[in-house]
Amino acid sequence: MLALIVSDNIKKMKIKEKLIEVVKLQRIEDDGILYITQSAGIPFDIKRVYCIVDPATDLPRGYHAHRQINQAVFCIKGGVVITLDNGQEKAKIALNEKNPGRGVLQRKMVWIEMNKFEKGTIILVLASDDYNPGEYIRGYTQFIKEIRRP
Ligand code: TYD
Repeated sequence: MLALIVSDNIKKMKIKEKLIEVVKLQRIEDDGILYITQSAGIPFDIKRVYCIVDPATDLPRGYHAHRQINQAVFCIKGGVVITLDNGQEKAKIALNEKNPGRGVLQRKMVWIEMNKFEKGTIILVLASDDYNPGEYIRGYTQFIKEIRRP
């Protein structure tokens, strides 16, 4: 019985570890601090970079998945709580300005929710492809339908 519980916990941990993939920008101190993407272990070619600047603190963002695009999300100012959901498991990670080079991957077909923005937050996103509204899944029911499609 004990073994069963332990193995179940390990299984859950493995799923969570896979869902939350932390990436780290290389940090260079040089009369200030630089964060660079080279050697950061971003597992895709970066085609697009965008920022979300000073989002409303009382309004969540995200609530979508991408069918084709992989992204790496960083919080370079303020703070945010990010929830990722692969249709089986949900996991949260807090990102904040204490470690602006620490980000998280949002792989394609992973649902993202961004909550608890601190005032003056800046989110930096590195994306694997151009913006294409057609590759977004904006409804959770549709996401679950597509993720469970054989
Ligand atoms: P959206 O991806 O929905 O933002 P969030 O994930 O923060 O909720 O994008 C918000 C708006 O900006 C939406 O109208 C689409 C537009 N947009 C672009 O035109 N180009 C882009 O590269 C991005 C990311 C968004």
